[in-house]
Amino acid sequence: MSFLRIKGLYKHFGEVAAVNGIDLEVNEGEFFTLLGSSGCGKTTTLRMVGGLEKPDRGEILLGDRCIVSQSKGIFIKPEKRDMGMVFQSYALWPHMTVFENVAYPLKVRGVKRAQVAEKVLPALELVGLAGYEDRPVPALSGGQQQRVALARALVFSPSVLLLDEPLSNLDARLREEMRRELKDLQRRVGVTVLFVTHDQMEALSLSDRIAIMNHGQLEQVGSPEDVYYRPSTSFARDFLGRIFALSGRIASVSEQGLVVELRDAGGAALRVRREGLPSSAMLKRAVGQQVMVAIRPEQIAVWPSPPDGQDNVVAATLKSSQFLGDHYEYTVGIGGESRVIGSALRPPPAGQQIFLELKEEEITLWPTA
Ligand SMILES: Nc1ncnc2c1ncn2[C@@H]1O[C@H](COP(=O)(O)OP(=O)(O)OP(=O)(O)O)[C@@H](O)[C@H]1O
Ligand SMILES: [Mg+2]
Repeated sequence: MSFLRIKGLYKHFGEVAAVNGIDLEVNEGEFFTLLGSSGCGKTTTLRMVGGLEKPDRGEILLGDRCIVSQSKGIFIKPEKRDMGMVFQSYALWPHMTVFENVAYPLKVRGVKRAQVAEKVLPALELVGLAGYEDRPVPALSGGQQQRVALARALVFSPSVLLLDEPLSNLDARLREEMRRELKDLQRRVGVTVLFVTHDQMEALSLSDRIAIMNHGQLEQVGSPEDVYYRPSTSFARDFLGRIFALSGRIASVSEQGLVVELRDAGGAALRVRREGLPSSAMLKRAVGQQVMVAIRPEQIAVWPSPPDGQDNVVAATLKSSQFLGDHYEYTVGIGGESRVIGSALRPPPAGQQIFLELKEEEITLWPTA
């Protein structure tokens, strides 16, 4: 069920189109992530959802309730939106204790003094900070401050949690630990999360769905596997990780897909399924179209000799390899160019031929001219 809906949202700052027409639906209980590089408009979007920024145009609905609409003149105040927010900087009050920080949203909402402790203590328990009530905030580590910020956002049991890069101030080890805790916490509380990050790994590992954002617009929305393995735009493809690419031309087209004759690999041919095309319009393209076939490097199966009965195999020369603990990284030469792939297969000596299988259902195809 669609729970949080964003319709035609725009926000300009002078000449800068920070948010340039966003439509989005987040389901109840979902962990939804806005992923994009610095300056693409993630924070601005989140602040408009939270009520800290007014949109120039557009509407936001929570359940059946419109919380902001520029055209209808509706603007619900942040504290009336039933949303908790954690800022990138945490924005804790340094002169207050842990208890006072977490109690603050309750005060703003007029919760009676007698009930405040009844809510603050379980919230601190939830984030693993029971017993820290009287500590001054500056006496806490980064990870502990992050937990206080989370407790403060959750203390009034909001239906939506807005998280703006909450893990990016933590060191790598702590970040990984908090990532697991955050996911676990979200499952236990069942709160709907709108999460913002520029970190691909964070987005892929935490999210039910991801929206890839670029220049104030959404490039693609889908499950982590969808956006990673089936990027629908070249930006999404390149932003989400490394690719292994070969160029060629379309040699033939059929109902199921098409065949690409490779330029780099001595004219070897690869079959590509229809699902691998960024748009079905490509199937209508004339034979002869210049294209690039792409695959995530870890999807390639490496064979020491030509695999029996397998199509879609490209011969390569192993130039060098490196052992990385859980896998090897091979530098391979194909048609005079070097590329890097990963494999669990113990490498043969450098200089030897190896065979790369690119499964037809795992290839994506991109026009280059
Ligand atoms: N208050 C403001 N006044 C002027 N320009 C702003 C303001 N807030 C944001 N911008 C501009 O709008 C664009 C989007 O900013 P935003 O903070 O939403 O990006 P972001 O995706 O959160 O980036 P980051 O990953 O660096 O936090 C940027 O070009 C930024 O400089
Ligand atoms: Mg930001």
